[in-house]
Amino acid sequence: MYDYDLLVIGSANADLVVGVERRPGPGETVLGSELDVHPGGKGANQAVAAARLGARTALLARVGDDAYGRLLLDAQQAAGVDTAGVLVGGAPTGVALITVDPSGDNSIVVSPGANGKLAPGDVRAAGSLLHASRVVSAQLEIPLETVVEAVRGLAPGTRFVLNPSPPRPLPPEVLRACDPLIVNEHEARVILGGERGGEEPAGWARALLARGPRSVVVTLGAQGAWVASAQGAVLVPAVRVDAVDTTGAGDAFTAALAWRLGRGDALADAAAYAVRVGAAAVTKAGAQASYPTPGDVAAL
Ligand code: RIB
Repeated sequence: MYDYDLLVIGSANADLVVGVERRPGPGETVLGSELDVHPGGKGANQAVAAARLGARTALLARVGDDAYGRLLLDAQQAAGVDTAGVLVGGAPTGVALITVDPSGDNSIVVSPGANGKLAPGDVRAAGSLLHASRVVSAQLEIPLETVVEAVRGLAPGTRFVLNPSPPRPLPPEVLRACDPLIVNEHEARVILGGERGGEEPAGWARALLARGPRSVVVTLGAQGAWVASAQGAVLVPAVRVDAVDTTGAGDAFTAALAWRLGRGDALADAAAYAVRVGAAAVTKAGAQASYPTPGDVAAL
C-alpha cells in the first residue's frame, strides 16, 4: 500500500570535520587534524541510515546548486534513497563545522544555507510523497513552520517521528503528532522548559508524555534509552562498544527506530534494535560512512 517505508523531511549538510586534542576555549586557537569533508545533515543522515538497513526511503530536503549539493545527492543515490524530493537552489548548501575529540565526542555548528529555505510550500508540493510513506521523520535543522506543515500533511495512518534537534519549544500541534518524540537530555530540558520532572530520565519521559506526544524516547548515550508511552516505561540498555566518532549516531538510531516501528515492532523492541544501530555507528569515523548494514548490526 505504501511506496516508502520512511520519508525523511530534513536537512542536508556538508560536514567539515577536524579532529582536535581538545576544543578551544573562548579566544583560544588550537591546531587540529587535516580537514575531512563528508556528506551529513540530520535529515540526509537518517535517510542513508534507513536505506542501508534495507528500508525503502525517500528524502525531502533542499541543497544548493553547488559542489556540496552534488556531494550530498550522490551520497543519497549511492545508498539507494529516492531523491525526487530533494530540491536544488535558493541558497548555498548547508555546512556543519564539526570538531571530534579523542574520546569520539563532537561539537557541531551548522550554517543552515539551503536548509533554511525548505519552506511549507515545498512540503505541500510534495503531498504525494507524504501520502506514499508509512512513516515520516523530521528534525529541526529546517524551519519549524515546515515541520508544522509536514504534520498537517500527514495521511491518516502515517506515523510521525520527530527528533527536535537543535531543540526549541514546540507547538502543541507538533507535540501531539509525535509517535515518538525522540530527545536526548539536553533536548528534553529545552522542550520541558522549567518543568523537568525531576532528575531522573524516567521522570523527564513522563513529563514529556504529559505534553501530548503518543510516545517518547529519551536517549542516554552509554546508558541506553528510556521509552515511554501510555502502556508504560522501560529502560532499553546500551550495547558497549569502543567509540571512535559519535557524529550522526543519533540520526542512525532515529532512522532505525522509525523504520522498525513502521514494520510493526513494539516501541521497546524497535528501540532495542535502534540502540544496536547507533552503537555500530559510533565505531567508525564520520556520519553516513559509519552506518551499518543489517549484517553489521547482527555481528555486533
Ligand atoms: O547529527 C549529526 C549531524 O548534525 C551532522 O552530520 C551535521 O551535519 C549536523 O547536522
